[in-house]
Amino acid sequence: MLMREIETDIVPWCLENKVSLCIYWPLMKGLLTGKLPRDIVFQKGDGRAKYPMFQGEEYQKNQDLLDRLRAIADEAGHTVTELVVNWTIHQPGITTALCGAKRAQQIRESAGGMGWGLSATQQAAIDEALKLRGQPVTLPAV
Ligand SMILES: NC(=O)c1ccc[n+]([C@@H]2O[C@H](COP(=O)([O-])OP(=O)(O)OC[C@H]3O[C@@H](n4cnc5c(N)ncnc54)[C@H](OP(=O)(O)O)[C@@H]3O)[C@@H](O)[C@H]2O)c1
Repeated sequence: MLMREIETDIVPWCLENKVSLCIYWPLMKGLLTGKLPRDIVFQKGDGRAKYPMFQGEEYQKNQDLLDRLRAIADEAGHTVTELVVNWTIHQPGITTALCGAKRAQQIRESAGGMGWGLSATQQAAIDEALKLRGQPVTLPAV
């Protein structure tokens, strides 16, 4: 949802050549579950701290996005995690999403992103939320 670069070249190529596509980080290392507080302070050594998506203004913009996604998920009767997984696996050309998990409950919740579909209205609301979010900076500065 936050890293869309593959949509310009890789996804069209895979679709044209009938190649399946497995994506990683669908939950953006836990960010897109909506569970992290706005005022998070990472422990020393937490690898997430080096990514712009977890820093400063970018992080606050992501929290604004999550507030909008939470409203859409509530209306749909799902969690934010389920909404994000569902949206991800229904994007054109995406065959599989590699969802990480630390606990069995997390596997169950991510699996709850399968087996249902977003309405056109919900889809449009997510598109609008992503448009309001704007282009994210996702990779660490080198
Ligand atoms: N091939 C490659 O180049 C490549 C690159 C990157 C990653 N990967 C692979 O992709 C897989 C997924 O990566 P990832 O685990 O970093 O990303 P992810 O799926 O975006 O995030 C998973 C993390 O989110 C949290 N989480 C998951 N479900 C949750 C739930 N229901 N509620 C709350 N928190 C939840 C857990 O961490 P916490 O509980 O700690 O928050 C979990 O470890 C891994 O197997 C990784 O090895 C491959």
